[in-house]
Amino acid sequence: MRVFLDKIVKQNKIKTKFGNVANYIPGLEKAKKEDLGICLLDMDGNKYVYGDYNKKFTIQSVSKPISLMLAMLDNGVDYVFSKVGTEPTGDAFNSMIRLETAIIKKPYNPMINAGAIAVSSMIKGENKEGKFKRLLDFFKLVTENDTLTYNEEIYLGENRTGNKNRAMAYFMKDQGVIESSVEDSLDVYFKQCSIEVTTIDLAMVGMFLARNGRLSTGEKIISDYQARVVKSLMMTCGMYDGSGEFALKVGIPSKSGVGGGIMSVLPNKMGIGIYGPALDKKGNSIGGDGILEDLSKELDLSIF
Ligand code: DON
Repeated sequence: MRVFLDKIVKQNKIKTKFGNVANYIPGLEKAKKEDLGICLLDMDGNKYVYGDYNKKFTIQSVSKPISLMLAMLDNGVDYVFSKVGTEPTGDAFNSMIRLETAIIKKPYNPMINAGAIAVSSMIKGENKEGKFKRLLDFFKLVTENDTLTYNEEIYLGENRTGNKNRAMAYFMKDQGVIESSVEDSLDVYFKQCSIEVTTIDLAMVGMFLARNGRLSTGEKIISDYQARVVKSLMMTCGMYDGSGEFALKVGIPSKSGVGGGIMSVLPNKMGIGIYGPALDKKGNSIGGDGILEDLSKELDLSIF
């Protein structure tokens, strides 16, 4: 396996030249374009790591399936999906076009920015600090990593420049999708996106979902149904407007982030975390995408 991973990471490192590091959030541009690493965990307790697996990066959109889990625990599945849809858009992750044009007066799904902000607005807590603390504690629980924190520079940078997210949030308040304070919801969302992780943390979340919402101790945290909801939405919407092609080529429920992370779940088999900050035009890690495609082909991992 190690020799195999070595080969796959090396052959995809070349692709990182053709991608670009995100720079629309101040601080993200500092990442090294050529970095690429992976952590793969399996049901037998094996851990395989390669390349820049131990580098810290901000979780960004890979936080969306995790906040969705807590929102479902806090409010129930029906309430969450009374406010957010379950359909892929085929549009960019930060697109706002369908918010107004869609017949359903709610964001299309929890994996795009609008849907994720709506989900963050549902996290329970006395104030924005209390809400984020509960969310960070939940991240610590599912990664089984007590040391997680958020990157203040990236959080402040996004809060300062996140005008499009802010516009969508105010629009959703007008539509009745967001019921709590808009600014508090955005604060929770920007902070959750700034949580720093490594590929190991992402692979742990992947394993948590692969075990249908169980920690490595066997403790059950979310229901089988809630785990299924998250995995289905990762498969249909997790790679944004690249989700259809990704389903065809890779066939593994996955979620990407503009920090360069990808978290993948092979139900009852594996959790995979990848870091590669060079992104393709759709905002997905270009090297990470390639690694998953090769892994899926060579190990016949597609769920289809
Ligand atoms: O809201 C944003 O734009 C970022 N905090 C997260 C976007 C993201 O990661 C999209 N992923 N590919």
